[in-house]
Amino acid sequence: MNILIIGGSGQTGTRLRQRLDETSFNYLAPSQEVLDLTDSAQMRAAVTDFNPDVVVNCAGYRDADLAESEPSRCFAVNRDACAELASLCNEQGAILVQISSYMVFDGKKSESYTEKDAANPLGVLGGSYWQGEQQIRERCDRHVILRAGWMISERKFELLKSIMAELMNPAPFGVLGNRYGNPTPADDAARVITAILLQLDCGAEVWGTYHYAGVNAVSESDLAATILREMAIYDEIATDQLNIIIADAEDESRIVPLNSKLDSTKLLHTFGIHANSWEVGLARLIKEYYV
Ligand SMILES: NC(=O)c1ccc[n+]([C@@H]2O[C@H](COP(=O)([O-])OP(=O)(O)OC[C@H]3O[C@@H](n4cnc5c(N)ncnc54)[C@H](OP(=O)(O)O)[C@@H]3O)[C@@H](O)[C@H]2O)c1
Repeated sequence: MNILIIGGSGQTGTRLRQRLDETSFNYLAPSQEVLDLTDSAQMRAAVTDFNPDVVVNCAGYRDADLAESEPSRCFAVNRDACAELASLCNEQGAILVQISSYMVFDGKKSESYTEKDAANPLGVLGGSYWQGEQQIRERCDRHVILRAGWMISERKFELLKSIMAELMNPAPFGVLGNRYGNPTPADDAARVITAILLQLDCGAEVWGTYHYAGVNAVSESDLAATILREMAIYDEIATDQLNIIIADAEDESRIVPLNSKLDSTKLLHTFGIHANSWEVGLARLIKEYYV
């Protein structure tokens, strides 16, 4: 099976390439210089020249704050490019696997979100994901949209590193006690995407929208505490001297959902893919960071 990966240099895309190296799949992961999603000609050339059976789109505009001040750039990548990609895939007979996000929800539900829950994005970024999803549903019959939870990886500027950096800083560090989500190691997300690809290769007709996130859901403050405990194994970090301020979010609730919990049951029932504990992945990431 030929697979075109878009966003192969990102945290999920990198781990996906490593996972696919262990399979017999043939994949191509062009850099953004060669395949910019906002460049129609480059996108068409990549899809027609490589003639993929499946396109996996791990690329996206991701900065929720910046998106509020440059909505057109955000919509160009997350909605308009997805629309064009979906039409191209449909025309070429390729399956489109799109990675989307918990950001499509408003976070007002108290339990985990299932695929049956209505989307109601809060800000520009969430809106762009949701509208991108809608374009894919309308334009490409054979699609799999996988909404992921809070992605964690060793990559710079990502959730894990930013929390670790704050924890190492003696200045008071504020975390939210009322924002909940499921940390999802990028490698675990890559495992799930690979498992889906293996089933698509076997002819599974499983088009639709699915959720995947690590078990169990946690508050941002409990996540910070867990990270701190793992760091303390390798670092002489004086945990009692660290000044963690647990606050409740007010302003941020406007663009980022306070409840980002995703229920992965549909994925389990459809593909037989079990959700892994994020704590195991987190421990491994922190060990890799120190050792
Ligand atoms: N991170 C999270 O917490 C999270 C949570 C849920 C869902 N997701 C979704 O999961 C997917 C993967 O996320 P991630 O965290 O792995 O992302 P990431 O590490 O930020 O990587 C994003 C990738 O997209 C590429 N890219 C950005 N703009 C592009 C464009 N115009 N054309 C082509 N490529 C472009 C980047 O290329 P360069 O390396 O060249 O910049 C990079 O390879 C995204 O769709 C994201 O929205 C992420």
